[in-house]
Amino acid sequence: KVSAKIGPSILNADLSKLSEESQRLLDCGADYLHLDVMDGHFVPNLTFGHPLVKCLRNKVKDAFLETHMMVSKPEQWIEPMADAGVDQYTFHVEPVEDVPLVCRKVREAGMKVGIALKPGTPVDTVTQYIDQADMVLVMTVEPGFGGQKFMDSMMSKVQWLRQNYPDLDIEVDGGVGPSTIEACATAGANMIVSGTAIINSNDPAQVIRKLKSTVTD
Ligand code: DX5
Ligand code: ZN
Repeated sequence: KVSAKIGPSILNADLSKLSEESQRLLDCGADYLHLDVMDGHFVPNLTFGHPLVKCLRNKVKDAFLETHMMVSKPEQWIEPMADAGVDQYTFHVEPVEDVPLVCRKVREAGMKVGIALKPGTPVDTVTQYIDQADMVLVMTVEPGFGGQKFMDSMMSKVQWLRQNYPDLDIEVDGGVGPSTIEACATAGANMIVSGTAIINSNDPAQVIRKLKSTVTD
């Protein structure tokens, strides 16, 4: 078990108060913020893009911002997201033709590289690219919506990655909360996204504390 960071997903927060909500989560002990960008094409839902992320960056100057790009053309948003002040650009492998090119462009733009896998995508789809990535995101729900049920069967992907890549950052996203985080950490995930478990709670600080205490020795 490695000690893990907690990155709340603001997808189900009150987006009209994005900066206040984000600051509140950071004050509650969030290690980073996970920003879900959806284009209504790669997934059947829409959220926001780089203009909003740029405004958020001006309000939370020191936070580590990860964008989870659930979009069909991730290569299109690299420059705008870098310009918006994003620290890590996590894109899905499924729609991308030239993954090494996207990895290289993300790095050249000064951001960390994350490669995401939908539940149906086998883990060996990414092994050839891992030397070009900082992180692999193993989705534990179908991307598109918060509040879905955690897919425990994805833990074998996390275990396999951790066994083969001891130094890789491995993130889980979808249905993770106090009752499912233990399985993720035990499998070897060290970046934990949690959305509705934190946002829908009337005491987010307490949930974040609980999550952190489960994943730190
Ligand atoms: C799903 C998003 C997740 C989601 C997590 O498409 O990528 O980040 O918001 O929310 P919960 O934790 O509620 O599943
Ligand atoms: Zn996400």
